[in-house]
Amino acid sequence: ALISLRQLLDHAAEHHYGVPAFNVNNLEQVQAIMEAAQATMSPVILQASAGARQYAGEAYLRHLVRAAIESHPDLPVVLHQDHGASPSVCLQAMRSGFSSVMMDGSLLEDARTPAPASYNLEVTAQVCRMAHAVGVSVEGELGCLGSLETGEAGEEDGVGAAGQLTHRQMLTDPAEAKDFVARTGVDALAIAIGTSHGAYKFTRPPTGDLLAIERIAQIHAAVPDTHLVMHGSSSVPQEWLAIIRAHGGDIRPTYGVPVEEIVRGIASGVRKVNIDTDIRLVMTGAMRQLLALQPAEFDPRKALAAARQAARGLCESRFEAFGCAGMA
Ligand code: G3H
Ligand code: 13P
Ligand code: NA
Ligand code: ZN
Repeated sequence: ALISLRQLLDHAAEHHYGVPAFNVNNLEQVQAIMEAAQATMSPVILQASAGARQYAGEAYLRHLVRAAIESHPDLPVVLHQDHGASPSVCLQAMRSGFSSVMMDGSLLEDARTPAPASYNLEVTAQVCRMAHAVGVSVEGELGCLGSLETGEAGEEDGVGAAGQLTHRQMLTDPAEAKDFVARTGVDALAIAIGTSHGAYKFTRPPTGDLLAIERIAQIHAAVPDTHLVMHGSSSVPQEWLAIIRAHGGDIRPTYGVPVEEIVRGIASGVRKVNIDTDIRLVMTGAMRQLLALQPAEFDPRKALAAARQAARGLCESRFEAFGCAGMA
């Protein structure tokens, strides 16, 4: 059944687990996530970016998710708009049946530059008034995702700030979080702690100077009733990078957010963990491998089924690691 983000994350808080929020764009990704959730009896967050709606088309996405819910009637599912860039994007998502929306007012809509605090407060509060009137949950964002190593936003996927950020912009301040939550009424809050979008997060396995996990507990203490969200939480599995490289791919040396650091984050109050890149990497690795090993194969279902199987394995391991398994 379709439920709201607030309903799911209240349960997660009560039972001390975190929920992976996987980005979806096509049939095989939706199936992989649902099969993994069914196998582990986990609740599900499917999230779609503006880019996903552009890729698949609004009606196709909506019906893929309807099909997922029909095929798995015993699993709770949240359908979430990822990184809504304006109140109008969020309104479109609500009309399309999403049960949760993210108003990302941390960036100005057109220029991907950090927005003034007043803008973020205003648009987020506006979306909360509209969404809550129809039972839809809202995620806001305070602070800009970016690399503490370089001061750059991981912007190769077009989500996140452009150019250089100051150290201050890249770490969410607990007192500001308290004020933001009080003035907007968000159900969930995305925080900046040194993660960034995409495959190229860190040039070495991150330590405390690059990934501020200890800050999560401080923010959680300041806003105990608001569910914290970690964006940019792909772990960038080295074994899948090796598979991609062994079959013609070209991925530079890079590191993601270790699963054990995410688990520490969940113990400190994180409830929603956004993952897109890891699914992209494993699907690409599996497709490259299958097509390389079976060069005569030309049925796309073979490559797509391999990709789906690999994505399912990734999702199962995240559901297990985050304490989600058995919670559906
Ligand atoms: O937050 C970013 C997600 O990875 C979505 O990326 O805009 O390419 O769909 P996308
Ligand atoms: P990754 O690029 O680390 O998978 O992050 C995805 C994300 O934050 C989507 O909002
Ligand atoms: Na989101
Ligand atoms: Zn994100």
